[in-house]
Amino acid sequence: MLLIPFAAAAALLFGTLSGAIESQTLAKDFRRCGTLISQSKLDDVERKFNDFRLDSSFEAKLAGSIHIDVHFHIVYENTTLEGGYIPDQQIKDQMDVLNADYGLTGLRWRHTNTTRTKNIEWYDRVAPHNEHENNMKLALKTGDATTLNVYSVGFRAGEGTGLLGFSTFPWDYNNNSSMDGVVVLYSSLPGGTLAPYNKGRTLTHEVGHWLGLYHTFQGGGCGGNGDFVSDTPAESSPAYGCPTKRDSCPDDPGLDPIHNFMDYSEDACMREFTKGQISRIKAQISAYRGLRKY
Ligand SMILES: *[C@@H]1O[C@H](CO)[C@@H](O)[C@H](O)[C@H]1NC(C)=O
Ligand SMILES: *[C@@H]1O[C@H](CO)[C@@H](O)[C@H](O)[C@H]1NC(C)=O
Ligand SMILES: *[C@@H]1O[C@H](CO)[C@@H](O)[C@H](O)[C@H]1NC(C)=O
Ligand SMILES: *[C@@H]1O[C@H](CO)[C@@H](O)[C@H](O)[C@H]1NC(C)=O
Ligand SMILES: [Zn+2]
Repeated sequence: MLLIPFAAAAALLFGTLSGAIESQTLAKDFRRCGTLISQSKLDDVERKFNDFRLDSSFEAKLAGSIHIDVHFHIVYENTTLEGGYIPDQQIKDQMDVLNADYGLTGLRWRHTNTTRTKNIEWYDRVAPHNEHENNMKLALKTGDATTLNVYSVGFRAGEGTGLLGFSTFPWDYNNNSSMDGVVVLYSSLPGGTLAPYNKGRTLTHEVGHWLGLYHTFQGGGCGGNGDFVSDTPAESSPAYGCPTKRDSCPDDPGLDPIHNFMDYSEDACMREFTKGQISRIKAQISAYRGLRKY
């Protein structure tokens, strides 16, 4: 909850965000991602991950490109666009955005299948760790640790109201493989209705979590380990819009990483992963998804 701006957190608690998605005047700080982790869980995860890094020579292993199969699960309320029934063209455009945004990582995303499921409860009410998420994923999830399952829903009611997306982390896979995957708001796909969040960067961002990245403002302060990536400048809180020259940690080197896919900026403002993030991705998927190339 620490990462959610106060107004949004209050709205979340009292359920007053309903209808915000339909309104064409989105609040400046609208982007909200449900991929959160407690500090104690994070400390535990990073301790174990560090042991893995010290232990192995993963860097060399992902020299060429690796293909990852992507299964889209379109959950809808009715067969209109507002009902979540995304056209195939938007899925295709989303795949192009994903491949372009991950171009420097060596990961190639291969669209393998699309399923379409009518379920109003899931469409409206899926949220991190609730029964609807469980039921939806138990019914639809396919593949193994190396398969990306993407679910598109409406986030229209309940605790997930107003989310743009959420994801599991790679280290969650061993605990419960059926929950693995990424959930996004249907209107965030390229050409969707959620301007300025309709260029497909919500999926790019959530897949970043699926590959083991944190938010660039993880930790919520200027000191400390932040996002555990050394070349993303420290950032004390999310950046919204596209605030050029923002510097929320003036005593640390560098301006805020507002163009980074793992911040909260508008889609058009996002354009990069750093070398350090790419290195972390490779180590993460080697450690937890068995994805490596010799
Ligand atoms: C389809 O679902 C959307 C979202 O609930 C709703 O706004 C719209 O009125 C529905 N359209 C029809 C034709 O049922
Ligand atoms: C693709 O999805 C359909 C359902 O729409 C399913 O019947 C089929 O088995 C899936 N194919 C693969 C290769 O997963
Ligand atoms: C994974 O989580 C779902 C939902 O909480 C649960 O039904 C299932 O039994 C879990 N599986 C394992 C292996 O823990
Ligand atoms: C494992 O998953 C279950 C739900 O399936 C959850 O309740 C539990 O907290 C998870 N454990 C860890 C260590 O993440
Ligand atoms: Zn996020």
